[in-house]
Amino acid sequence: MWFKFLLYFGLASLISGEKSFTVVLDTTKSMQEEIVTIKVNLQSIVNLSDSGISNYILVPFNDPDVGTPIIVPTLPQFLSAVNAITVSGGHRCPENSLAGIEKALQISKPQSTIFMFTDAYAKDVSKLLSVENLCRSTRSQVIIFLTGFCSPELSPGVTDQVYYDVAKACSGSVLLLDTASLRLAFSFMKEVINETWTDIITYDTFTENKQLTFSVDSFTKTWLLVVSGDNPRVELTIPNTNQTVDKILDMRNTNVLRLSEPSAGEYTISVRCRNKTAVTLYKRFELPLRFGFSSKTPRSMNETSSLPMPGRSNKILVDASQSKMKLETIHLQVTNELEKKVLQFEEQPSGLYLAEAFVGSDQEFRLWIKGYDLDSLKEIVVSSQNFVPQQVAVTGTTWIKPQSQILDTETKTIDFGFNTTFACKVTGYPAPNVTWVNDEGEILSSETILLEVPSLYLSYVTIENVTVNSTIYCISKNSEGEDSQSINLYVHRPYTFEVLQTPQDQTIEYGGEGKLFCEVSAYPVAETKWYHNDTIVTSSDEIQVDLETNALWIKNMSVNTYGAYKCELKNEINEKIYTAFVNISGIEAPQVAVDTANVVLKLGEWSYLECRIMKGKPSPIITWTFKSEDGYEFSSLPDGVVADGGKLKIATAQPNHKGVYRCEANNVEGHHSVDITVQLQYPPMISNGDLHTLTVKEEDDVELPCQVDASPQATVRWEMSQDDVIISLDGRHRTDYRYTHRFKALWKDSGNYHCIAENSIGRAEKTITVNVLVAPYIEAPKEKTVLATTGGNLVLTCNVLFGNPVPSTKWEFIATDSSTKILLRANSSSLLHLNNVNYKNEGSYLCIANNSVGTDSINIYVKI
Ligand SMILES: *[C@@H]1O[C@H](CO)[C@@H](O)[C@H](O)[C@H]1NC(C)=O
Ligand SMILES: *[C@@H]1O[C@H](CO)[C@@H](O)[C@H](O)[C@H]1NC(C)=O
Ligand SMILES: *[C@@H]1O[C@H](CO)[C@@H](O)[C@H](O)[C@H]1NC(C)=O
Ligand SMILES: *[C@@H]1O[C@H](CO)[C@@H](O)[C@H](O)[C@H]1NC(C)=O
Ligand SMILES: *[C@@H]1O[C@H](CO)[C@@H](O)[C@H](O)[C@H]1NC(C)=O
Ligand SMILES: *[C@@H]1O[C@H](CO)[C@@H](O)[C@H](O)[C@H]1NC(C)=O
Ligand SMILES: *[C@@H]1O[C@H](CO)[C@@H](O)[C@H](O)[C@H]1NC(C)=O
Ligand SMILES: *[C@@H]1O[C@H](CO)[C@@H](O)[C@H](O)[C@H]1NC(C)=O
Ligand SMILES: *[C@@H]1O[C@H](CO)[C@@H](O)[C@H](O)[C@H]1NC(C)=O
Ligand SMILES: *[C@@H]1O[C@H](CO)[C@@H](O)[C@H](O)[C@H]1NC(C)=O
Ligand SMILES: *[C@@H]1O[C@H](CO)[C@@H](O)[C@H](O)[C@H]1NC(C)=O
Repeated sequence: MWFKFLLYFGLASLISGEKSFTVVLDTTKSMQEEIVTIKVNLQSIVNLSDSGISNYILVPFNDPDVGTPIIVPTLPQFLSAVNAITVSGGHRCPENSLAGIEKALQISKPQSTIFMFTDAYAKDVSKLLSVENLCRSTRSQVIIFLTGFCSPELSPGVTDQVYYDVAKACSGSVLLLDTASLRLAFSFMKEVINETWTDIITYDTFTENKQLTFSVDSFTKTWLLVVSGDNPRVELTIPNTNQTVDKILDMRNTNVLRLSEPSAGEYTISVRCRNKTAVTLYKRFELPLRFGFSSKTPRSMNETSSLPMPGRSNKILVDASQSKMKLETIHLQVTNELEKKVLQFEEQPSGLYLAEAFVGSDQEFRLWIKGYDLDSLKEIVVSSQNFVPQQVAVTGTTWIKPQSQILDTETKTIDFGFNTTFACKVTGYPAPNVTWVNDEGEILSSETILLEVPSLYLSYVTIENVTVNSTIYCISKNSEGEDSQSINLYVHRPYTFEVLQTPQDQTIEYGGEGKLFCEVSAYPVAETKWYHNDTIVTSSDEIQVDLETNALWIKNMSVNTYGAYKCELKNEINEKIYTAFVNISGIEAPQVAVDTANVVLKLGEWSYLECRIMKGKPSPIITWTFKSEDGYEFSSLPDGVVADGGKLKIATAQPNHKGVYRCEANNVEGHHSVDITVQLQYPPMISNGDLHTLTVKEEDDVELPCQVDASPQATVRWEMSQDDVIISLDGRHRTDYRYTHRFKALWKDSGNYHCIAENSIGRAEKTITVNVLVAPYIEAPKEKTVLATTGGNLVLTCNVLFGNPVPSTKWEFIATDSSTKILLRANSSSLLHLNNVNYKNEGSYLCIANNSVGTDSINIYVKI
């Protein structure tokens, strides 16, 4: 299996060329002729590709030591140095040529091409291991031009084998040339230097016959085949016979063949030779794939290293974006092992594939990719170059100040609420401390990984839920200094208007609470407004707009909070309105009751009237009004009556408290009332008590009032008494409905008039003395002349029939001689007694009655 012996040259194209052009030159005397040839030809080849060369090195070696190397920056200086070389010494054959190679490897930049010219075998074979290690770490290439040999007779046991070993370890070849044809070696050097070889296979040496086959894929641009040995005959079988293979060298011991733009396919070489022969195949291919490694999942090639990190699992990014290749399998083959391990991989956007593999220390490997061309659907199988893990142990690293770069364009636009990850690539030694900081100086949590030993780092930061525009800084610091890079983060937020909750009709119990919800997720932020019956809601004890919970909170349901609610959601772009009706439950109209609708009180009595609430929610409010017995309307309570809620207090019942008391209960749902009639029981009272005496003239109209107040109603009558004798009243006397007694006064109507009122409780009486003024009136005498006998006795009567005030009476005697004499004075009627009369008693006897009203008289003549 040919790949068992593969050795590879590092992928030089990916690393900017900083190489040395190094010549290791045997300066023993036997080299005289060769050195002349070298001096003449060297210039032509070095001129070719001075682009990637940063210095020129000449390492002379002689017997027994390696001379002081000459390191110069320019080609002319190098050529002068070569020209200055002189040969000397070296009579014995094997020389310390490996020491020269070792030195060259040590002082040359990595990945340099080192050419050694000698005519002798090496005696310091013990340095082979060191050379092999150096080749592995520097990935430099060693090509040996051997123009002589050491005869076995003079140097028994010494062979050229170690040169082949070096070539094998150092991706090189051994070219056997005779001194005369050394000139031609420079053509080969040109070929080697001019191209950037991506794959070098050094086959094991063999003797006699060998048939070798190698495949060329469509990505191979050039191949170069070196066959060197004891007079080899090379036959090449190529897949496309009309291609021309260039013979770069065609000499007795060495053949170099080149084919540019080779057709893809299997190439076979048959080599026939006499003795040991070496074959080296150089290939330059332009793979359609790129490979990158990182210990953390990379998102692009920018976040990878071209070299895997040893001793850990590596994420492997395969970039097929430059080709139209679709990958089907990825295999990993560790160098010098047959087995190809299948790697799982996932396809990522934009032609990237991600696989993962553990890479052991110093474990070199290559990746085999199988896939097909998306256009032609032709299968493609390619092999990567050989991957050599990074060298972890580094010494003599220069200390550098951090330099950083955020792997993104200056501004990144992120959709609102999304997460975003940034990577910052930092170089610096010693290891820089990389921190990410936002606008506000907050340190963001980040992760920094070592991408390439010793000084290339990648720091990742993930910003979750990005909602605001901001600037993010990647700050890296070490003892040498600090660097800071920033990136602007723009948040793209699409207009949204997603209504999450809308208010629903509901019924809330009186005094209870409830919520209406109205929620929108909107950008730009929408404002929420609540309306109740089209009036904007302002927060109060009963109702509150709670922005936090997107709720309208009815804290205390009442009639005030009953009605239609409207929620208005509005931003610059959109507007929506939702309505809901909030009903009230648990309210009822009032109902009141009283124990007795009729209350009878005694005068002065103390009493409570009570009106009880039977129903009503909210609790009704009671008001009392009053209507007196003869009133028309209910109005305020009379003095002395106090309301206290449902109770009415009558401290001392008075007649004016009589009437109807109305208890009215009111609440939001309605009103109800009941009446209590209060009746008062008290004995009759006669109010107009001032009139006690009334003096009238005859024929006057007399009115005797009697205002009676009584409850129950009194029966009222009038009586008249004269001298305590009740006189019955005749038809002239009338009493009207108001108990006023009326009559036209007659002489006989004087007396005490009694108004008597009686009810079940008691009786009242009022007396008015009526005095009828009457002029005196004397009863006419029976005889106007009375005959008397002398000596006899005689009685004269003066009977005053009427007269008020009681008239005063007097008897007057008018003698026959006309003398007058008052005989008797009296009040009212009087009798005049005449005893033992004689003639002198003859004459007229006048009885005169007199009062304030008038006078009356009678005249009786007594004849003796
Ligand atoms: C090589 O380069 C030198 C100067 O750099 C120039 O003088 C010389 O002609 C070149 N030789 C060839 C063969 O190109
Ligand atoms: C060197 O390589 C370039 C392109 O790679 C080519 O054009 C040129 O002919 C080559 N020179 C020689 C001497 O082969
Ligand atoms: C070479 O051969 C191929 C077919 O194999 C043919 O298509 C092509 O034209 C030939 N080229 C030349 C230069 O003869
Ligand atoms: C091959 O070369 C070695 C020494 O280099 C020699 O010992 C041997 O005899 C040679 N073989 C043939 C067949 O010439
Ligand atoms: C990788 O870096 C280069 C140079 O900085 C840049 O042009 C390119 O866009 C980056 N690619 C990605 C995928 O980030
Ligand atoms: C952002 O990251 C968090 C945590 O890793 C995850 O839960 C969330 O789904 C991510 N959001 C988006 C939009 O990817
Ligand atoms: C790195 O820097 C941050 C911020 O300056 C600091 O908090 C942290 O301790 C540093 N870490 C180390 C390892 O120096
Ligand atoms: C994202 O942030 C916004 C605003 O800070 C917040 O409202 C939202 O809940 C957050 N989302 C998540 C998934 O953390
Ligand atoms: C972020 O800035 C951009 C550009 O100034 C602006 O269009 C966008 O609305 C801003 N985003 C937020 C969320 O403020
Ligand atoms: C609700 O309102 C009524 C009347 O407005 C009041 O009496 C009651 O205490 C209130 N209830 C609460 C819980 O605030
Ligand atoms: C609201 O409207 C209802 C009828 O839809 C009405 O009964 C209620 O009294 C009104 N409330 C206010 C506070 O205007």
